[in-house]
Amino acid sequence: MNDVFSLRGGWVLHPEYRCRMLEDVVYTGRAKTPQFQSLSIYAPEPYLTADGRVDPAGTCGRFTAATAPVVFENNAAGYLQMPHTRLGDSRDGAAKYLERGMVYVTCGCRGRDSRDADGVLCGKSPWSLVDLKTALRFLRHSREALPGDWSRVVSVGWSAGGAMSSLLGVTGDDPRYLPYLEENGAYLDESDAVWAAQIYCPIIDLDHADAAYEWQFLRDPENEDSHVGPAGRMDAFRAALSGELAGRYVRYFNSRGLRRPGTDEPLRFGEDGRSGTAYRWLMKLLEEAAGEYFRRLERGALPLSCTAQDYLAGRCAAAGFPAEDKTAWLSWDGARARIASLDDYVLRCCRRMKPCTSFDTLGMDSGENQEFGTPERDFMHFSPDVAGAIAALSGRFPAEAARYGAAFAGVRDDAALAERRLLLNPMRLAGAPQAVPASYFRIRVGARDADTSFAVSMAFAAALRTAGLSADYALVWEQPHAQADYPGDICRWIEELC
Ligand code: DHB
Repeated sequence: MNDVFSLRGGWVLHPEYRCRMLEDVVYTGRAKTPQFQSLSIYAPEPYLTADGRVDPAGTCGRFTAATAPVVFENNAAGYLQMPHTRLGDSRDGAAKYLERGMVYVTCGCRGRDSRDADGVLCGKSPWSLVDLKTALRFLRHSREALPGDWSRVVSVGWSAGGAMSSLLGVTGDDPRYLPYLEENGAYLDESDAVWAAQIYCPIIDLDHADAAYEWQFLRDPENEDSHVGPAGRMDAFRAALSGELAGRYVRYFNSRGLRRPGTDEPLRFGEDGRSGTAYRWLMKLLEEAAGEYFRRLERGALPLSCTAQDYLAGRCAAAGFPAEDKTAWLSWDGARARIASLDDYVLRCCRRMKPCTSFDTLGMDSGENQEFGTPERDFMHFSPDVAGAIAALSGRFPAEAARYGAAFAGVRDDAALAERRLLLNPMRLAGAPQAVPASYFRIRVGARDADTSFAVSMAFAAALRTAGLSADYALVWEQPHAQADYPGDICRWIEELC
């Protein structure tokens, strides 16, 4: 393993980014895939001397080498193994943080497809997370030689990386992970807790994501054109399964006793899934997202230049912008946006992208099926919701229930699988008594994101609040499954926290 002390001479100046960088540092002596279990550190130039020593008097923006927060961005995507990013590549986000005087770490990790030198699968749940925790402990162990305030680590990630950022936020120093950390060669006397977590479009709560997806997309059975599923319209069995799962999601959500961030109002769905305090909160979130967009549009603060009326009528000319007439379901009175209903929004603006079932697919061929496999069985079923819903349909669909029921038979009493699911589910770990949670969570989700249901991140924000944690949650209008945010907002958030 690299020791940062011995790497002092390794800092290189990058004149264009005006930073010093230490690249490709392997963060554990027991790396099985060193290409992925490595990180790079970038710091504003004044924080280090030419010979790689920290200059405590070095300043940049509002910070010094001693006070700068550390942005720890993971690059996890698709639950696949991913290397850390490099300056200038398509997923690189370093510049905005460095300009404002923050220290920036980009971190790779193993994933569902990782194989060790002998070809053995070695990166399924919970190893991506354990790798990131190992990296944080490695960095803290080396903090004397590094610029930045290592009590102010801000985790950032999107999609599967948003799941990792959620998990880093809720499972800081959680002893459940100690055996894995030990096996991974992590420093056991260092902390892996983070101070704040920025979470974009998280693919989380995989225990309930299939049911949540059908709750949201129930009325959209025709758009099964995802890369993970068959094209076309649902057959009768899938349509029944969709309805069964949607009902299960409502019952699950209501069983959680969740409270709304900000107001503490108890959140529940009506039995139809389209009424109740939880439904009204989601509609308010969507309308607030649209309202924020209209306000920015009117003050010329968006790349799009047209009036609110032209935007609504689909007459705006920006390249690549869909010319959709939204007037039938969306309105803006200069102060408040209104959306007719969730189903109008889904059918006209945010169509189903995944088949039924969406995460634990009937064909057992999704990324999540691979994430919950073992070294011996690459892909596995994992969802008790789906297993239960199939069983519940056995009277009406005996042939399908027999076929798929057999495939899902092992899901409900496989204790090792239950552990893999738990260790990857921030929705179940929020408020865990032995963990050191982040002090601040900021969750942003694109309002056109159909990779998972809005209910998943909304419920997570409410679970954080219900556990007494802070949760700043918003949807971002017109943004897809991405780092959904307005330019500059994340840096302003970090500066405000500091
Ligand atoms: C990602 C996207 C998905 O739709 C999914 O199921 C898992 C991960 C991603 O972009 O990381």
